[in-house]
Amino acid sequence: MENRRLPAPADVRPPAPATGKLGILTPGLGAVATTFMAGVESIRRGHSKPIGSLTQMATIRLGKRTDHRSPLIRDFVPLAGLDDIVFGAWDPIPDDAYTAARKAGVLEERDLDRVADFLKRIVPMPAVFDNKYVTRITGTNVKQGKTKRDLAEQLRHDIRDFKTRNKLDRVVIVWCASTEIFIRPGPQHATIEQFEKAMERNDDAIAPSMLYAYAAIMEGVPFCNGAPNLCVDTPALTRLANDRGVPISGKDFKTGQTWMKTVIAPGLKARMLGLAGWYSTNILGNRDGEVLDDPASFKTKEESKLSVLHTILQPELYPELYKDFTHVVRINYYPPRGDNKEGWDNIDIVGWMNYPMQIKINFLCRDSILAAPIVLDLALFSDFAQRAGMKGIQEWLSFYYKSPMAAPGLQPEHDLFIQQTKLKNTLRHLLGEDQITHLGLEYYA
Ligand SMILES: NC(=O)c1ccc[n+]([C@@H]2O[C@H](COP(=O)([O-])OP(=O)(O)OC[C@H]3O[C@@H](n4cnc5c(N)ncnc54)[C@H](O)[C@@H]3O)[C@@H](O)[C@H]2O)c1
Repeated sequence: MENRRLPAPADVRPPAPATGKLGILTPGLGAVATTFMAGVESIRRGHSKPIGSLTQMATIRLGKRTDHRSPLIRDFVPLAGLDDIVFGAWDPIPDDAYTAARKAGVLEERDLDRVADFLKRIVPMPAVFDNKYVTRITGTNVKQGKTKRDLAEQLRHDIRDFKTRNKLDRVVIVWCASTEIFIRPGPQHATIEQFEKAMERNDDAIAPSMLYAYAAIMEGVPFCNGAPNLCVDTPALTRLANDRGVPISGKDFKTGQTWMKTVIAPGLKARMLGLAGWYSTNILGNRDGEVLDDPASFKTKEESKLSVLHTILQPELYPELYKDFTHVVRINYYPPRGDNKEGWDNIDIVGWMNYPMQIKINFLCRDSILAAPIVLDLALFSDFAQRAGMKGIQEWLSFYYKSPMAAPGLQPEHDLFIQQTKLKNTLRHLLGEDQITHLGLEYYA
């Protein structure tokens, strides 16, 4: 966004209101998607609070500090209400959301039982799936098609059908499916013409996630990518999203260890403390952990996790502090832990007169519990972005991603606090409010 001039607040057209129902479709009905859906229903029934969600719980300061105007974001921004959301999904495993949630083992029986009737009604549509891209999963609920283009057309049909069947006003798609193997961007992803030809000749460089993204954009449906796969992050699909006026964002929900990194690293840099090394290791026992046990899928995740520290610490600007630090990330599949991941970070920092110090973090986190509110916020904000006339990469949603997509030639922003400021300032801007600079100029008479 930095290199584009934004219209003055007075010229911003007011976003269209959130009338009617919003459909949220997830490729993937596993741990994250079912925890998200069960949570929203539990909140709707008054059993839970939307903890972790900015759209539901955060406030936003408007005007001067002395104005004392800090409404809830959801009272300030015209977002779809939770009661207006309808869920749907695709998955190669035919389990309904209740069965899938039980297998995922994130939520306890007592919490699932309260929403069991609702979850049982969410049955996944046949997926576009190919074991070549996610080797640890075998699925039976899979679409057949002669070419990848045929498969993408079937997804488009599903989206239209879901919309009509549920009498929806709008739809958003959030990728909550497994991490696919690492794919380097190639000529097949350079332009939409090459992308479409590659779909027609069943080129290996076109992964299932790209077909969902293509189908979404062609249907005018905002698309968010919660996994680190290349997916929508290609010149072909980014341009298509721009041309068709569709907001897109990605990649990889920022939960657990990487979220911690984007909290701690800005703190070290703010105080000009050096970094000698950062060693992160995890044990994880859910299906995501099993998929990531495959070196090809792990490589995709590793790339996503490694980029964070360099962009925050800017070794090119601060070579004495950050030029040669060692960064190691490990994920170990360890079934007894299920979804309850345990992460250890050892951070070797350097202080005054080169004296070494260490920080140790032992994070016993619940990955899907952290991811679920992110899915909700991304869906609601992306829907809002579209009504506000935003299109293409939504950099202001970087707050939610480990590996944020950025316009070509721009470094993605990883610092959680800069991301938060950008998110809130974007909301202020789109609703014609002044940006907050924290300058405190009111004291200069
Ligand atoms: N849990 C977190 O905190 C977190 C954080 C960041 C990213 N993610 C990513 O989110 C994704 C979901 O995580 P999860 O824990 O729910 O995993 P999961 O294994 O429980 O669920 C993934 C589901 O996707 C399905 N799937 C695979 N390929 C598909 C396809 N082509 N179309 C439709 N469905 C497909 C699988 O059958 C499975 O049911 C993963 O890619 C993970 O890396 C999760």
